[in-house]
Amino acid sequence: MSESRYSRAVLEHFHTPRNMGAMENPSAVGNAGNPQCGDVIRLYVRIKQGVIVDAKAKVLGCPVAIAAASVLTEILRGKTLKEAMQISNGDISEALGGLPPEKLSCSVLAEAVVRDAIGQYGGR
Ligand code: FES
Repeated sequence: MSESRYSRAVLEHFHTPRNMGAMENPSAVGNAGNPQCGDVIRLYVRIKQGVIVDAKAKVLGCPVAIAAASVLTEILRGKTLKEAMQISNGDISEALGGLPPEKLSCSVLAEAVVRDAIGQYGGR
Protein backbone atom coordinates (compact mmCIF):
# COMPACT_ATOMS: atom_id res chain seq x y z
CA MET A 1 0.00 0.00 0.00
CA SER A 2 1.14 3.54 -0.61
CA GLU A 3 1.31 4.91 2.93
CA SER A 4 1.36 8.54 1.82
CA ARG A 5 -2.37 8.34 0.98
CA TYR A 6 -3.24 7.80 4.61
CA SER A 7 -3.42 9.96 7.70
CA ARG A 8 -1.03 9.48 10.56
CA ALA A 9 -3.89 7.96 12.63
CA VAL A 10 -4.67 5.35 9.97
CA LEU A 11 -1.05 4.31 9.77
CA GLU A 12 -0.66 4.26 13.53
CA HIS A 13 -3.74 2.06 14.05
CA PHE A 14 -2.72 -0.18 11.16
CA HIS A 15 0.80 -0.71 12.46
CA THR A 16 -0.26 -1.04 16.11
CA PRO A 17 -3.87 -2.17 16.15
CA ARG A 18 -5.62 -2.00 19.52
CA ASN A 19 -7.75 -4.66 21.15
CA MET A 20 -7.35 -7.33 18.48
CA GLY A 21 -8.33 -10.95 19.02
CA ALA A 22 -11.21 -12.90 20.43
CA MET A 23 -12.88 -12.13 23.77
CA GLU A 24 -13.82 -14.79 26.26
CA ASN A 25 -17.50 -14.77 27.22
CA PRO A 26 -18.55 -11.67 25.29
CA SER A 27 -22.03 -10.24 25.77
CA ALA A 28 -22.45 -10.17 22.00
CA VAL A 29 -20.56 -10.85 18.78
CA GLY A 30 -21.19 -9.04 15.51
CA ASN A 31 -20.02 -9.85 12.03
CA ALA A 32 -19.92 -7.71 8.92
CA GLY A 33 -18.49 -8.31 5.50
CA ASN A 34 -17.94 -6.22 2.43
CA PRO A 35 -19.16 -8.33 -0.50
CA GLN A 36 -17.11 -6.33 -2.97
CA CYS A 37 -13.68 -6.89 -1.46
CA GLY A 38 -14.46 -9.87 0.78
CA ASP A 39 -13.09 -8.17 3.90
CA VAL A 40 -14.62 -9.16 7.22
CA ILE A 41 -14.70 -7.70 10.75
CA ARG A 42 -15.84 -9.63 13.80
CA LEU A 43 -16.56 -7.51 16.87
CA TYR A 44 -16.82 -8.76 20.45
CA VAL A 45 -18.42 -6.54 23.08
CA ARG A 46 -18.88 -6.82 26.81
CA ILE A 47 -21.92 -4.95 28.05
CA LYS A 48 -22.72 -4.11 31.66
CA GLN A 49 -25.89 -2.27 32.63
CA GLY A 50 -26.39 -0.98 29.12
CA VAL A 51 -22.83 0.30 28.69
CA ILE A 52 -20.09 -1.20 26.54
CA VAL A 53 -17.24 -1.81 28.94
CA ASP A 54 -14.93 -3.71 26.59
CA ALA A 55 -14.60 -4.29 22.86
CA LYS A 56 -12.26 -6.44 20.80
CA ALA A 57 -12.12 -7.24 17.12
CA LYS A 58 -10.74 -9.68 14.60
CA VAL A 59 -10.18 -8.44 11.07
CA LEU A 60 -9.60 -10.25 7.85
CA GLY A 61 -9.17 -7.25 5.69
CA CYS A 62 -7.33 -4.33 4.24
CA PRO A 63 -5.16 -1.92 6.23
CA VAL A 64 -7.98 0.61 6.55
CA ALA A 65 -10.40 -2.06 7.79
CA ILE A 66 -7.82 -2.97 10.44
CA ALA A 67 -7.40 0.69 11.43
CA ALA A 68 -11.17 1.23 11.46
CA ALA A 69 -11.79 -1.80 13.68
CA SER A 70 -8.97 -0.73 15.99
CA VAL A 71 -10.25 2.81 16.48
CA LEU A 72 -13.79 1.46 16.78
CA THR A 73 -12.84 -0.65 19.80
CA GLU A 74 -11.56 2.51 21.47
CA ILE A 75 -14.59 4.63 20.53
CA LEU A 76 -17.00 1.99 21.84
CA ARG A 77 -15.69 1.77 25.39
CA GLY A 78 -17.94 3.68 27.75
CA LYS A 79 -20.70 4.17 25.19
CA THR A 80 -24.30 3.26 25.95
CA LEU A 81 -25.96 0.92 23.47
CA LYS A 82 -27.95 3.83 22.10
CA GLU A 83 -24.81 5.92 21.61
CA ALA A 84 -23.04 2.98 20.00
CA MET A 85 -25.88 2.51 17.53
CA GLN A 86 -25.42 6.11 16.44
CA ILE A 87 -21.75 5.71 15.55
CA SER A 88 -21.50 6.38 11.84
CA ASN A 89 -18.88 5.61 9.27
CA GLY A 90 -18.25 9.36 9.23
CA ASP A 91 -17.39 9.26 12.94
CA ILE A 92 -14.96 6.42 12.32
CA SER A 93 -13.40 8.17 9.35
CA GLU A 94 -13.08 11.36 11.40
CA ALA A 95 -11.46 9.49 14.29
CA LEU A 96 -8.91 8.22 11.76
CA GLY A 97 -8.15 11.72 10.51
CA GLY A 98 -10.12 11.20 7.31
CA LEU A 99 -10.02 8.51 4.64
CA PRO A 100 -9.46 8.60 0.89
CA PRO A 101 -12.90 8.47 -0.81
CA GLU A 102 -12.30 5.03 -2.26
CA LYS A 103 -11.65 3.68 1.25
CA LEU A 104 -14.81 4.99 2.90
CA SER A 105 -16.37 1.55 2.45
CA CYS A 106 -13.90 0.24 5.03
CA SER A 107 -15.37 2.59 7.65
CA VAL A 108 -18.86 1.52 6.55
CA LEU A 109 -17.85 -2.03 7.46
CA ALA A 110 -16.95 -0.87 10.99
CA GLU A 111 -20.30 0.91 11.32
CA ALA A 112 -22.12 -2.22 10.15
CA VAL A 113 -20.38 -4.51 12.63
CA VAL A 114 -21.43 -2.38 15.62
CA ARG A 115 -25.04 -2.54 14.51
CA ASP A 116 -24.81 -6.28 14.02
CA ALA A 117 -23.28 -6.84 17.48
CA ILE A 118 -25.89 -4.73 19.25
CA GLY A 119 -28.64 -6.30 17.18
CA GLN A 120 -27.43 -9.73 18.27
CA TYR A 121 -27.46 -8.58 21.89
CA GLY A 122 -30.94 -7.13 21.60
CA GLY A 123 -32.20 -10.22 19.84
CA ARG A 124 -31.26 -12.67 22.56
FE1 FES B 1 -12.36 -4.06 1.90
FE2 FES B 1 -11.17 -2.03 3.03
S1 FES B 1 -10.97 -2.72 0.98
S2 FES B 1 -12.83 -3.15 3.78
